[in-house]
Amino acid sequence: MAREATVPSPSERGAFLYDQVTRHVLGLVEKGTLKPGDRAPSLRGLGRQLGVSISTVTQAYNALQEMGVLRVRPQSGYFVDRAVEPTQETRLPRKTSVSRQPRKVRFGELFEQIFSVANDPAVVPFGAAVPAVELMPVKGLMRATQRAAARVPEQAVDYCFPPGHLELRREIARRYIDLGLSVDPDDVVVTSGCSEALALSLQAVTRRGDIVAVESPTYFSVLRLIERMGLLAVEIDSDPETGLCLDALESAIDTMDIKAVVGVLNFSNPVGSLMPADAKQRLVDMLDGAGIPLIEDDIYGDLYFGDQRPPVARCFDRSGGVLTCSSFSKSIAPGYRIGWVISDRYRDEIIEWKQATSSAMCSLPQIAMADYLRSGEYERHLVRLRSAYRGQVDKMRFMLARHLPAGTRISNPQGGFVLWIELPRGTDALELLQLALAENISLTPGMMFSATRKYRNFIRVNCGHPWDQRIEDAVVRLGQLVASMA
Ligand SMILES: Cc1ncc(COP(=O)(O)O)c(C=O)c1O
Repeated sequence: MAREATVPSPSERGAFLYDQVTRHVLGLVEKGTLKPGDRAPSLRGLGRQLGVSISTVTQAYNALQEMGVLRVRPQSGYFVDRAVEPTQETRLPRKTSVSRQPRKVRFGELFEQIFSVANDPAVVPFGAAVPAVELMPVKGLMRATQRAAARVPEQAVDYCFPPGHLELRREIARRYIDLGLSVDPDDVVVTSGCSEALALSLQAVTRRGDIVAVESPTYFSVLRLIERMGLLAVEIDSDPETGLCLDALESAIDTMDIKAVVGVLNFSNPVGSLMPADAKQRLVDMLDGAGIPLIEDDIYGDLYFGDQRPPVARCFDRSGGVLTCSSFSKSIAPGYRIGWVISDRYRDEIIEWKQATSSAMCSLPQIAMADYLRSGEYERHLVRLRSAYRGQVDKMRFMLARHLPAGTRISNPQGGFVLWIELPRGTDALELLQLALAENISLTPGMMFSATRKYRNFIRVNCGHPWDQRIEDAVVRLGQLVASMA
């Protein structure tokens, strides 16, 4: 039986503060402010500076010691470990330049290679962006499922037709109240994961041969949908911190007949960029002016590392041009396949597509999910989950920077749980994938995130699993494999 998520902290707030301290010190080491052999700030001094207790700083220093970043010298305090490499400039460059030709997208057996090993326990799971089940609220969800099955057994085995179970749609709509949004449960269509939400949205707003603008790099399943639907993808320059470059998008709109834009504005996959609120406003206004629908994929929005949930583009939408897609796959249960799309303007079209392709939805998971959300457990679970993902991403980032050769650059996401890595020039990520798979390590090669097969020397690494020796050994081995390819 899988375990519930646990975080080594006395309280949820404590966990947050402790992560902040860890991040702060990692940042100092990464920027070279603290060099190997330097004394770390005193417990008391850092506690005062960051407004946290000495015990929180001690807890963070102990974790940093375990990571091999700090070392204790008896009677002298904490020092940066001498083995810590003076960190290379590991941040991704600000700008990527992409060709603005609309392209047909073609993917071969790569998908199969990545996903066929995603459920294989023998393979180190750096490939698909899949969270560890032990981080999911298994017990709470099973309790909700049992309650649902006992309360409404007939409803649980009956058809549930689109737009989906009303109680669940209400619970989903309620989740947007904190963002200042008033979502009508009637505008929520329950889907089979966020994947189907994206597919139905694209089906509702495009026709074969249309051009769709996407971030570059972009989530590969969007490219695959574009491929299968006979659409054309145009890649738009994107910034590793702020996402879609709006000037580039504006000039693309001026020069070609773009019919839809798809974007992961909150913690993009693979880069982890976060579009600031004022840019979201500009994006929505720009697309509204041009009459182009925006399909926003907000699957990572709840998984922020800062202290506030970023807004969705929908918060700035006055005319109904934004379709908001998401799911609970990264936060509650990927296997329940509960996703949704919110739209008033395109709702009927979406429902028609849904009826045409899958007719109805699984009933029990929807009823159980509504029950779980209503229980209030989700918010508490999210606090723990964000802390766990943040810790895993930090640790992976640090260890990769340590073990991959000079010339490597690594994204610095502010949410989600994947890292985007630029390997030294000339490294062929496809070749690396084959070498790694032969050693039971999976990863996703960068070219899968581009319609033009760019990013040949990039990989994406999943950090959805708690750190353990097997993961550490795989990071070390990955570093050796990349070095051997030079
Ligand atoms: C950005 C993004 N959108 C959608 C999905 C698919 O979500 P689901 O499993 O809910 O279909 C993923 C999964 O990796 C994702 O990263």
